[in-house]
Amino acid sequence: MSTPPPVEPSLRRGRWYRPGAARRPVPRAVRQILLIVHILSAGAWVGLDVVLAVLVVTALRARDPGLVASSFQALGLVGMPLITSALLSLVTGLLLGVVTHWGLLRYWWVTIKLGITVVLVVLVLVLLRPGLDAAAAHGRRLLADPTATGDSSSLLFPPAVSGAMLVVAVALSVIKPRARVRGRRGGVRVPPPS
Ligand code: HEM
Repeated sequence: MSTPPPVEPSLRRGRWYRPGAARRPVPRAVRQILLIVHILSAGAWVGLDVVLAVLVVTALRARDPGLVASSFQALGLVGMPLITSALLSLVTGLLLGVVTHWGLLRYWWVTIKLGITVVLVVLVLVLLRPGLDAAAAHGRRLLADPTATGDSSSLLFPPAVSGAMLVVAVALSVIKPRARVRGRRGGVRVPPPS
C-alpha cells in the first residue's frame, strides 16, 4: 500500500505558510490587514461604479438643463477615486494571492478575478478616464450654453460592463469554487484554506 502524499499545513501557531516557502511565516495580522483593505477597496470600487451609473443616467435622461450640466461636470470627479480603488483592489488582491495558499494561478476563481481586474484597470485608465474628462468639459460648455450638443451615449457602457464584471468577481470571492487551474502539483496536496 502506498503512503498518502504529505499534506502541507496551512496554519501553524497562528501563522500562514506559503507552499514552496513552507518555513517562511506570514503573520496572521498581515493577512487580515490585507484582506480588510482588499474588501474595503473592492467595495469602494463597486460603490463608485454605482455613482457613475447614476450620474450618467441623470446626465442623459434629466430634463432640467442645470441638473444635466452639473451631472456631466460631476462625472469628472469620479475618475480619480475609481482608479485609486481599482488599483488598490488589484495590489491587495495580488499580495493576498502571494501570501495565502490561494496563490495567483492555483485556483480558477483567483485567476479569473485577476484577469477581470487587469482588464477593468486598463479600460478605466485608457478609455474611461479620458471619457470622464470629456464629459466634465461638456458639462462646463452646457453651463455656458444649454444648447451645446455632444454624443455621450457611449458613457452608458463603462458602468454596465464593469458593474457586471464586478458582480462576477464578488460572487467568485464569496463562493470560492475549489476548481484548480492545474491538478495536483508535484504530488503534494495543498489543502484550500477554510
Ligand atoms: C474585481 C476586483 C475584486 C473584487 C471585487 C474582490 C473581492 C473580494 C472579496 C469580497 C473578498 C473576500 C472574500 C471572503 O473573505 O470571503 C476577496 C478575497 C480575496 N481576493 Fe479579491 N477581489 C478582487 C480582486 C482580486 C484580485 C485581482 C486578486 C488576486 C489576483 C484577488 C485575490 C483574492 C484572494 C486571494 C482572496 C482571499 C483572501 C483570503 O481568504 O485570505 N482579488 N476578494
